[in-house]
Amino acid sequence: MEPNSLSALHTEACKLADSCLRFGRIKKSPSRLANRLLDARLPLFHVSRSKHTSTWETNMKKTVLGSLSAIVLATSLNAFAMDAEEAIEFRQAGYKFMAWNMAKIKAMAIDGDMEWNAQQVQAAANSIAATANSGMGALFIPGTEQDVGNTKTRVKPEMFTDIEGVTEVGMAFHTAATELAAAAETGDKAAVAKAFAATGESCKGCHDKFRMD
Ligand code: HEC
Repeated sequence: MEPNSLSALHTEACKLADSCLRFGRIKKSPSRLANRLLDARLPLFHVSRSKHTSTWETNMKKTVLGSLSAIVLATSLNAFAMDAEEAIEFRQAGYKFMAWNMAKIKAMAIDGDMEWNAQQVQAAANSIAATANSGMGALFIPGTEQDVGNTKTRVKPEMFTDIEGVTEVGMAFHTAATELAAAAETGDKAAVAKAFAATGESCKGCHDKFRMD
């Protein structure tokens, strides 16, 4: 892994931790949280995408399949002890973080509410691809198919049983997110707009099946 992608990951992990903290439920220190997030995803994040596209894709597939089977094997694959409430909060934070980045791309590439800035688009797309590739399947541990205490979840219990269905929407999502990052790297607005639409469809593809309204 290159130093750049390492620091990018760390920044993301910090943002992710920060967004968890803003939910006001996690009392732990942000840097400790960030380090834990980083530890959890480092083994899953193998290569720099721009230099090794094919390796990236192969590894991405392995990671997706790995993280999906993690839904079943979550306890044994967990990189650290995590309680059910935390798992729900982390996954919601991850999705919310992606939504923030999707909104930025939409504002620049589709709506024109924000001036086009290729660097910011690329940063947002890379954050989405990295989050998509972070092994979020590991956050669907047993016991989190329903609300835990005051921590509400909108996941449908089917997400824990329909492994084939989850694999299908998961692969579509990872492919779309990776293509979005590749389009952003070219700096081509039309290509980004197209890849953005496909990514949005893939988010919706999972929500329609596995998220309550
Ligand atoms: C593989 C399935 C899947 C994919 C792909 C997916 N989501 Fe979700 N999303 C969920 C589930 C399940 C929840 C509910 C999580 C919970 O409440 O425990 C959720 C919740 C959310 C939430 C609410 C988070 C909160 O604060 O409670 C947002 C926002 C969101 N997703 C956005 C997105 C965006 C944007 C994408 C695509 C870039 C995306 N999701 C891709 C399954 C998915």
